[in-house]
Amino acid sequence: MKMHRAEEIWLVISVGVLILSMVVTGYQAFAMDMAPPSHKETIDPQKVDETAPFDNPGVFQTEEGKYEVVMTLQIFSFTPNKIEVPAGSEVTFTMTSKDVVHGFQIAGTNVNAMVMPGHIQKITQTFEEPGEYLILCNEYCGAGHQMMSTTITVK
Ligand code: CUA
Repeated sequence: MKMHRAEEIWLVISVGVLILSMVVTGYQAFAMDMAPPSHKETIDPQKVDETAPFDNPGVFQTEEGKYEVVMTLQIFSFTPNKIEVPAGSEVTFTMTSKDVVHGFQIAGTNVNAMVMPGHIQKITQTFEEPGEYLILCNEYCGAGHQMMSTTITVK
């Protein structure tokens, strides 16, 4: 059985489009540093509240001078929304989104990441200088996007 010529052409085109979109996505993830650190660290965005560690968001000391902040992002807030750590702490933020793509930017630092539903994003930052650091969503996520911010207090 032979394929019709037109079918062959469409098959080639559709495979080509598929490969192209994979290449583009891969390139964006690589070049723009938008990809989560591990593709295996996925999560069902519908079940964030029931999935560890996000069933218990908060600030946890993991060892001397080290903290983990388990955080969910949702329209239009960060949970927990009050974070306090001692100066000099190394803080790892373990984050996911409960709905749409949000941004996680800490003013005055190099921290700037995307937090996507279905993915776990981990970012580590050491806070040497005491002060109030503003955390902003820098991805447009809807009507309340401008309001989406919180602070981390370093004492
Ligand atoms: Cu969340 Cu903008």
